[in-house]
Amino acid sequence: MQQNTLDSGGWAVYKRLFSYAAGYWPMFILAGIGMVAYALSEAAFAALMKPLLDSGFVEHDARVIRWLPWAIVAIFMIRGFASFASGYCMGWIGRQAIKNLRQQLFAHYLNMPTAFYDQSASGVLLSKMTFNIEQIANSTTDVVKTLVQDTLTILALLGLMFYYSPFLTLFMVMVTPLIAGLMRFLSHKFRSYSSRIQNSMGDVTRVADEAVDGHRVIKVFNGQEYEQKRFEAANEYNRRMNMKLIAARTGSMPVIQLLAASGIAGVVYVAISDILTEPIEVGTFVSLLGAVLLLMAPLKRMTNVNAPLQQGIAAGHSIFEVLDQPLEDSGGDVPLEKARGQLEFVDVTFKYQSSHENILDHLSLTIDAGETLAIVGRSGSGKSTLVSLLPRFYDPDHGSVRMDGFDLRDYPLSDLRAQISLVSQDVVLFNDTIANNIAYGALEVATEEQIREAAGAAHVMEFVEEMPAGFDTMVGDKGVLLSGGQRQRIAIARALLRNSPVLLLDEATSALDTESERKIQQALHGLMQNRTTLVIAHRLSTVENADRILVLDKGRIVEIGSHKELLAREGHYAALYQMQFHEV
Ligand SMILES: Nc1ncnc2c1ncn2[C@@H]1O[C@H](COP(=O)(O)OP(=O)(O)O)[C@@H](O)[C@H]1O
Ligand SMILES: [Mg+2]
Repeated sequence: MQQNTLDSGGWAVYKRLFSYAAGYWPMFILAGIGMVAYALSEAAFAALMKPLLDSGFVEHDARVIRWLPWAIVAIFMIRGFASFASGYCMGWIGRQAIKNLRQQLFAHYLNMPTAFYDQSASGVLLSKMTFNIEQIANSTTDVVKTLVQDTLTILALLGLMFYYSPFLTLFMVMVTPLIAGLMRFLSHKFRSYSSRIQNSMGDVTRVADEAVDGHRVIKVFNGQEYEQKRFEAANEYNRRMNMKLIAARTGSMPVIQLLAASGIAGVVYVAISDILTEPIEVGTFVSLLGAVLLLMAPLKRMTNVNAPLQQGIAAGHSIFEVLDQPLEDSGGDVPLEKARGQLEFVDVTFKYQSSHENILDHLSLTIDAGETLAIVGRSGSGKSTLVSLLPRFYDPDHGSVRMDGFDLRDYPLSDLRAQISLVSQDVVLFNDTIANNIAYGALEVATEEQIREAAGAAHVMEFVEEMPAGFDTMVGDKGVLLSGGQRQRIAIARALLRNSPVLLLDEATSALDTESERKIQQALHGLMQNRTTLVIAHRLSTVENADRILVLDKGRIVEIGSHKELLAREGHYAALYQMQFHEV
């Protein structure tokens, strides 16, 4: 398939990129003035050759000799100012547009459905944010400047040439279709390499990202060599694609210049030979030749502009691909100030996009407001999935999940989530102080006293007091400076502080030792009063006190009842309980 610079797909992307800069039209006008002035000053310099030779050298006209040197200085002054103005203004617009685009992409990342993150590697997403967007920066500033300014310059120079000698100029113009054809072919190549380079950059970042994140796993499993190989593959592919681009770019330049030089050769021949009916003046000819030489630089830039232009389009395309993905559904408009917390699963069936079987299979369940429901079952039985439907990380494929009688989708998403606290197995902390991590989500309203209270109840105080900076201790990237148990206690404090009607504990105490767990159990027990709680726990001792216990297997409820009832039934739960009892 042949694609040229201005094909419809490329145009659409470019126009859309431009919409990010459209608001800055005063800057565009300034830049435009600069570009026009630049183009005119180039043509003026070529035009100056005629009076220089005809009146200066040949006729020795004193008046011309007096103003001509000043004119040269003036032209270059104008040219300098014009070049600064267009470069600065275009750069300003470009950076502003990039900032807006980046901000929009970030906002999009914050509001994408959870399934989007399941399918995308974080390295690729980060690379879009950094590398791909920088590519756009290059193409919106330099490319536009080159395209507009050089087109204007070429037009001005061609205009001058036509004015001096239409016939000779025609020879020049004749090579243009050849150059255009070549550019069309090259632009296709450029674009395909560029997009491959960008994808391979994403791979490079992804592998590096995994190596950095998983450095402990890599060390203990001696995975260095394996990672090296994986990285080498991505790195080598990136190099190869870059080389192809370099080859296409550097190879195209001499060819185009050769074409242009042939054109000049033709012009020179026609001018010197007596094909022309009227002999041409020496000044006119030198002006023409000057114009042709001045044409070379912008023509060369125009041919080189194609690579960054295609890079920009490829990058823009990859960004818009994300921006065009639908955001999370923001829910209905049934207001929800403070829920009672009655929950209902009505014939809920759910599977992940990548899974083959239903993870939740026609599951029906009613949970009273204020009830504590424990969920147990083998790993992979769908416990976490069940819980993740409540904050609408995912929506069921069939059936509905309800709160206080309405489908969750009827509530505004933010209202719904305000009713829910979640403490999960892998606690995510932000690289901030302990106090801010506890107050996260309630930052504006939480007083220091409330934070302390929550920290006390979650036994965070115990280790905070030993730290030199106390609550102001930074937890490090993702909380690496704390132990797993300490992180969980912070997450529990966060949930305590949030004080929401629905509490979800997904193996919230898995990283705690039995001693700390018992202590926190008291705190959690207090926390569970007057609120609906779903607690997933691997240690059965922590679920005994729940109002009801649900045993889940392959997404189905196999048993439900109180601890006593289930023991008496001597079914799955009783067997699990026996097994754990013996282990201890
Ligand atoms: N984000 C996901 N994408 C695809 N499959 C998933 C995802 N999360 C979990 N699963 C799959 O769904 C099943 C249930 O997982 P999960 O609900 O986490 O189980 P549990 O919490 O009971 O251990 C597992 O087979 C798991 O592989
Ligand atoms: Mg789980």
